Amino acid sequence: MNRVARGNAYCVCTLPLACGSLVQNRSGGYGNPMEAWVIRDACQADRGGLRGLYGAAFAATYGPTLGQHVVAAMLADLDASGLRSMLPGKDERAAVVTLAGQVAGSAVAAERGRIAYLWGMYVHPAHQRVGVGTALLRHVAGWLSSSVTVEARVLASSPWAVAFYGRHGFREVGHEPFEAAPGCAAQAMVMAVSYAVLLERLGGR
Ligand SMILES: CC(C)(COP(=O)(O)OP(=O)(O)OC[C@H]1O[C@@H](n2cnc3c(N)ncnc32)[C@H](O)[C@@H]1OP(=O)(O)O)[C@@H](O)C(=O)NCCC(=O)NCCS
Repeated sequence: MNRVARGNAYCVCTLPLACGSLVQNRSGGYGNPMEAWVIRDACQADRGGLRGLYGAAFAATYGPTLGQHVVAAMLADLDASGLRSMLPGKDERAAVVTLAGQVAGSAVAAERGRIAYLWGMYVHPAHQRVGVGTALLRHVAGWLSSSVTVEARVLASSPWAVAFYGRHGFREVGHEPFEAAPGCAAQAMVMAVSYAVLLERLGGR
């Protein structure tokens, strides 16, 4: 699946169509630009849009297995931190996908030594399985050094994330205890892929 028109992404939030890469819309064309997907680096002004995305994605992903009370605690935790872990920071970079200006997907990565950590990979439930997650992964891969191993941590309550990462060459390398929210212990599967394999699966940078 390759539905992305690649280009340079800059964080100019008032001009998303001029600064991001266009992702084809559902009808397979670029058509009306207000209906087109845009992928670009995230910035602080995306805070509200990201919060809306996480509200919907957490409820759909974790609600059925962990319970909506845990989802509420996860969101409260996120709010208390000002979404800090999901926005660009000291060494983190974040990307968003927008549709008609609305944030519909996100991903965050940080390269630390030989490991590139990937997290915050969420696509709004209404827009999953049309290539948005893959477009985000490709965008993030463009930031990384060729020598890294890319790691993602996936909760057992998200088997579709396991399928998604597996499709892109990630394999299970271990398990870790994970605090989904304060006082709510869960297990995370650690999945990893070499940069070379990821790039091959994505069909080149
Ligand atoms: C995982 C996620 C980011 C993938 O994004 P996406 O835009 O749906 O992914 P793409 O459309 O690029 O790729 C789809 C592929 O991922 C896998 N996949 C995604 N959702 C799936 C599902 N519900 N069931 C089975 N496989 C699924 C499949 O391999 C699928 O390919 P297919 O449609 O040809 O079978 C998205 O499903 C999501 O946000 N899930 C909930 C949150 C989550 O678990 N995030 C990961 C946190 S670590």
